[in-house]
Amino acid sequence: MRTRRCRIAASAVLAAALAAGLTSCGQEARGGSRYQPPEGKGGTIGLAMPTKSSERWIADGKNMAKQFRAAGYKTDLQYGDDKVENQVAQIENMITKGHRLLVIAAIDGSALTDVLKQAADANIPVISYDRLILGTKNVDYYASFDNERVGELQGQYILDKLKLKKPDENADKHYNIELFAGSPDDNNTKYFWNGAMKKLKPFMKSGQLVVRSKQTKMNQATTLRWDGGTAQKRMDDLISKSYGNEDVDAVLSPYDGISIGIISALKSAGYDTKRHPLPVVTGQDAELASVKSIVAGNQTQTVFKDTRKLAKQAVQMGDAMLTGKKVQVNNTTDYDNGKKVVPAYLLKPVSVDKKNTQLLVDEGYFTKEQLK
Ligand code: GAL
Repeated sequence: MRTRRCRIAASAVLAAALAAGLTSCGQEARGGSRYQPPEGKGGTIGLAMPTKSSERWIADGKNMAKQFRAAGYKTDLQYGDDKVENQVAQIENMITKGHRLLVIAAIDGSALTDVLKQAADANIPVISYDRLILGTKNVDYYASFDNERVGELQGQYILDKLKLKKPDENADKHYNIELFAGSPDDNNTKYFWNGAMKKLKPFMKSGQLVVRSKQTKMNQATTLRWDGGTAQKRMDDLISKSYGNEDVDAVLSPYDGISIGIISALKSAGYDTKRHPLPVVTGQDAELASVKSIVAGNQTQTVFKDTRKLAKQAVQMGDAMLTGKKVQVNNTTDYDNGKKVVPAYLLKPVSVDKKNTQLLVDEGYFTKEQLK
């Protein structure tokens, strides 16, 4: 996927990229940043994370703080409790304190335009972390995973589990599926959704996958702030309204916290691991509770995105910017925030199910004991 995109990028935008000082695919970029560094180490890095309610963001914050300190900076780590006004106030405070760089995982990707204008006026560069900040020129780089690939892995996993190989309008077997999407204010949501739909849609068209609720549009399936309780209520509702005589065979879930809510609703409706098997339920983030749920046979799959590697990427980008070095990027075409195409470095996500949870132990992400 990335290879193909890179090839297209290489041919289509080569001239423009060279002119802008940008190259794609594992190269370096200077042109993405408006920032003029007073070069050198030291000073404080502001880390604005969305919420502590999910363990991944706790790990992201900790990993970045540790790695920035090791690179010679102080850090100011703040969590916005999933409230946009908290995050804006925290960022304003970081600007007032004269922090040298802001690394932001936005709660609402479109809500930071004014505060980032203040950052630009104070010559403070900005890295958009995991989630793209929208509608402003004042974001320098983006560090994330290949978000569309995440959705593809979830969609493909469902097809593999249901043994759906080719769309076939004459097939006599059909499977019931329900679809969940992430938070409508998170730019990643549409990438996850589009990636999954690329895989699932041909089978929805052929009639082999049936969405009994008929809620097939992303805006019918979103889950504000990725909240598990909200997803649980929606799943309760879908089961009671659309599944009188039929079973749910698969649920597309974009994130582990949502999967937990979905599984609770399914269990309340009588699905279990033995007599009335739970459907295939996907996820994302390889959070401990969900990996344990996979080991126990409840959740079926998750997508592992190593937060240590993402933190490392953001730290390298930040350090390079602050010391006047070139910043490594591998995508200069796909992440248009409405005001500019933000040069990005995308890492590779990996699908994990019961068969390969050992990978998480081998990578040192969890210990064997944690997964018991
Ligand atoms: C997304 C992120 C996912 C997941 C979700 C909920 O932006 O890419 O990995 O963490 O937020 O926190």
